[in-house]
Amino acid sequence: MKTALVTGANKGIGREVARQLAGKRFHVFVGARNRAAGCKTTDEIAKKGGNVTFLEIDIADNAIVTAAAREFSKVVDQLDVLVNNAGIMVDGDDAILEVSDDIFRKTIETNVLGALRVTRAFAPLLAKSKAPRVINVSSGGGQLTGGADGWSPAYCISKTALNGVTSQLAAALPKFAVNSVCPGWVRTDMGGSNATRSVEEGADTIVWLAIDAPQEVTGKFLRDREEIPW
Ligand SMILES: NC(=O)c1ccc[n+]([C@@H]2O[C@H](COP(=O)([O-])OP(=O)(O)OC[C@H]3O[C@@H](n4cnc5c(N)ncnc54)[C@H](OP(=O)(O)O)[C@@H]3O)[C@@H](O)[C@H]2O)c1
Repeated sequence: MKTALVTGANKGIGREVARQLAGKRFHVFVGARNRAAGCKTTDEIAKKGGNVTFLEIDIADNAIVTAAAREFSKVVDQLDVLVNNAGIMVDGDDAILEVSDDIFRKTIETNVLGALRVTRAFAPLLAKSKAPRVINVSSGGGQLTGGADGWSPAYCISKTALNGVTSQLAAALPKFAVNSVCPGWVRTDMGGSNATRSVEEGADTIVWLAIDAPQEVTGKFLRDREEIPW
């Protein structure tokens, strides 16, 4: 049975990805920093027959991330799919010159370094897979093509940098498929109720990359199963 770890899987897009992968016979590790919320999601997926394990992981804390990799390896000895989904958007629509250093640091710490440190900690377990896959959940807000339109600049810059991490990891890990995904505008706590997509639609390309995409697809940015410009 293949294994998958989804960070930020207690709600939103991450929970839906975890649910769908469990339905496709993956042993899914529900990564969450909040134990109660993570266990609730784990129980919900288990009740539907999924093979699922809760994994406590705060991606903003390197010691917790490395401890999580140790905990993971006590349960299974390899990881096939890592979905770096956890993310925050803590700036509003303030212009870039008004966003504080603290907001920038916090955003980069989670959205950029968080994904990188989880990949680093789990890389030895991923390397044991025949076809390791890393999926970084990014955003069209990070695209440079076409220029920025000014909303949540710290968040958007963090996703531009996350795309840089994707590209670098793809170069450094030729056996791995490493890609960024824009899920579209999705109805979650982050996306809000006016968003145009359901969580099922938001999860689609992520789950496709986890299971059905050719392993040769790497170092790309995708939306709706198609490559999009950086
Ligand atoms: N919704 C959209 O329209 C949209 C569009 C483009 C991209 N995205 C991206 O999609 C991903 C999922 O977003 P979402 O819409 O599902 O948002 P969400 O409902 O707010 O969920 C975010 C998840 O990330 C977790 N998280 C945040 N910081 C964390 C940390 N330090 N350690 C571990 N988990 C952490 C949250 O945990 P807690 O519950 O503990 O806070 C939560 O589980 C994000 O990367 C986001 O940037 C979303």
